Amino acid sequence: MSLTTPPEFTMISIGSVVLLLLGAAAKSSARTFTVYNGCPFTIWPAMFTDLNAGTAVPNHATGWQANAYTSVSFTVPDNWTAGRIWARRNCNFATNPGPNSCLDGGCNGGLQCDPHTGTGVPPASLAEWSLSTADGNDYYDVSLVDGYNLPIAITNNVGCPLANCPVDLGPNCPTPLKGPFDSTGFPVGCKSACDANLSGNPSNSPNCCSGSHNTPATCPSSGVQYYSYFKQNCPRSYVYAYDESSGTALWTCPASKKADYTLTFCPPPS
Ligand SMILES: *[C@@H]1O[C@H](CO)[C@@H](O)[C@H](O)[C@H]1NC(C)=O
Ligand SMILES: *[C@@H]1O[C@H](CO)[C@@H](O)[C@H](O)[C@H]1NC(C)=O
Repeated sequence: MSLTTPPEFTMISIGSVVLLLLGAAAKSSARTFTVYNGCPFTIWPAMFTDLNAGTAVPNHATGWQANAYTSVSFTVPDNWTAGRIWARRNCNFATNPGPNSCLDGGCNGGLQCDPHTGTGVPPASLAEWSLSTADGNDYYDVSLVDGYNLPIAITNNVGCPLANCPVDLGPNCPTPLKGPFDSTGFPVGCKSACDANLSGNPSNSPNCCSGSHNTPATCPSSGVQYYSYFKQNCPRSYVYAYDESSGTALWTCPASKKADYTLTFCPPPS
C-alpha cells in the first residue's frame, strides 16, 4: 500500500480483512458432505433430520435425483444431530408422489422428503450421523436395521474408520426377506427379519428387540433371524437394534478433527 492511499481505501481494506476472517471462522463451524452415486443407474438420495433431537439441518434439499456417476457437495452444521441419508430406487414422482413413488426408500413429500415425516419406507440402507456430541465425538454408522437396498460406504478425510456395506445383498438375500423386485424380477432390497414380520408379532419379537426383548441382554444377535447373512457380508454395518456389542457397528471420530464425510452409493468392492 502506498503512502498516497486515501484513508477511505485503508478503511475498506481493513473491513475486507475482517470479513475474510469472519468468513474463515464461519466456514470452520460447518463440514462438507459429498454424496456420490457410483451406481450405473439413477437413484434419488434423501435426507432426514430428527428435529426432536436438534434443529441444525444441512444446507441442501431433503431429496434429489442423482444420475449415475454424479456427486453433490453441501455444507452441514458442525452439530448436525440424528441425521440420516439414504437413497431411493426406481422412482416415478409424476404418477404417484409420496412414499410409494419409489420401489424402496420412498418418503412422504415426493422428490423432497417432508422435514417432519419424511423418513424412508424400508428396506433401505441408511447412513447416520450425530456430529460433535457431548463427549466430543462425531458418531456415524451404516445401518441395515431397516433392511438393505443399496451398497453404501461412509469415508472421511481425517483417517477415521470406514463404515460400509460394500456388497449387493439383494441377489443372495434369504428367500423370506428378498425383495421388493423390479420389473425384470431383480431384487432391489433385502428386508430385515423384523420388517418381514418373521416372528409374527412385531410388538414382542426377538427380531425387532421389542416387548420382552427390548434390552441388549434380552435381544442378543443370536436371536435375530438371518443376522449372520447381513453381518458376515457387511461386518462394518449396524445390523440390528443392539449391534454395538459387535464392536464394528458404530464408529466415532473426534469432533476436533472437523471431518468432512463422503457417502458413496455402490462403492467399489472392498
Ligand atoms: C447447533 O448450533 C446452532 C447454532 O449455534 C444452535 O442453534 C443449535 O441449538 C445447536 N444444536 C443443535 C442440536 O441443533
Ligand atoms: C405379522 O404376522 C402376524 C401373523 O401372521 C399377523 O397376524 C400380523 O398382522 C402381522 N403384522 C404385521 C405388522 O404385518
